[in-house]
This record gives sequence, structure tokens and C-alpha cells, in this order.
Amino acid sequence: MQMKRTSNILTLSMALAAGSIAASADAQSAPEAAAPAPLTGVHGGDLDGAFINARSFSEPDGEKLYRRVCAGCHMPDARGAQGAGMYPALAGNRNLASADYAIYVVVKGLHGMPGVGRMMTDAQVADVVNYVRTHFGNRYGDKVTAAQVGTVR
Ligand code: HEC
Repeated sequence: MQMKRTSNILTLSMALAAGSIAASADAQSAPEAAAPAPLTGVHGGDLDGAFINARSFSEPDGEKLYRRVCAGCHMPDARGAQGAGMYPALAGNRNLASADYAIYVVVKGLHGMPGVGRMMTDAQVADVVNYVRTHFGNRYGDKVTAAQVGTVR
């Protein structure tokens, strides 16, 4: 990921040096060319490569957001993983009973988990939190709203 960014900078500067408008426009339109949003608390594992370059997410619903943003660490079945780090299961997770806690973790991060919600709108955070709280064996019916997310930010 570090190498990718470096090579983008190289591509960009080479294109500029060559004065090639087409090549530099190309480099600028590559998603990786955008400066990544600053993230704190990101661990060094390779699982986070999928979203680290994102400035914002365009996934339209909670399920797609889960797959794109959360599944890399918590796994597609939400059962978590252990390897270089410990990724807790969200499946059947009683901590999700507290909607505010779930919102807080997504927005602010928690130890090894970056605050990926900073790259989402309030509505997207609400969608993905509602999704994990009503799937994977979790049945917490009290839906969170975008306004509720706004108070946690
Ligand atoms: C880069 C990996 C990573 C990503 C991406 C990630 N998480 Fe996490 N998540 C973690 C880790 C690691 C922890 C455990 C933090 C700790 O307690 O030390 C965690 C903890 C949590 C917890 C608290 C679990 C508990 O039992 O207290 C929730 C809730 C959670 N994540 C939800 C999400 C959601 C929803 C997403 C997607 C929007 C997401 N996470 C994306 C790594 C990640």
C-alpha cells in the first residue's frame, strides 16, 4: 500500500515531467492518486488495504458497506478472525445491544480498529450499524438514525 502510493506519485511526476496532459489526467483520475484521509490507529496488517485509500464510500446500503468496509477484518460471515491481530466476531455479539456503543466504535475506532465511520456520512454509519445489529444472529430492533450518529461524532 505504501509502495502503491509511492508509485502513484512517481507516475504523476513522470507525467508532469513529460508534459503529457493525457498521462497526468490519467494519473489524477486513478482513485489511488487522491490523498487518503488521515487515519489514526491503523494497524500494519494487510487486511486494511481495501479501504485505506478511500476518502469516502459510495456503497448505497448497509449490507454493501459491510462487505466493502467491515468484512475485510470481521470476515464476510462476521465471525471474526485471529491472525496478526484479533478481530472480534460481530455475529451474535451482545455488545451490539448498545446502539450507541456500535456507533461510537464505527465512528471513533477502538484500539486496533480505525474509525472507518469518519469516511462515511451519518446515514451510511446508521445503515451499516443497523445492518450488523439485525444480521449474523443479532436481533436488535431499535434502529439508529443519522441524527443519532451526528450526536456521537
Ligand atoms: C481494520 C480492521 C477493521 C475494520 C475495517 C473494521 N473493524 Fe471493527 N474491529 C476491529 C478490531 C481489531 C476490533 C477490536 C478492537 C478492540 O477491542 O481492541 C473491532 C471491534 C469492533 C466492534 C466492537 C466489538 C465488541 O465486541 O466490543 C464493533 C461493533 C465493530 N468493530 C464494528 C465494525 C463495523 C460495523 C465495521 C465496518 C463499518 C468495522 N468494525 C470495521 C477491526 C476492524
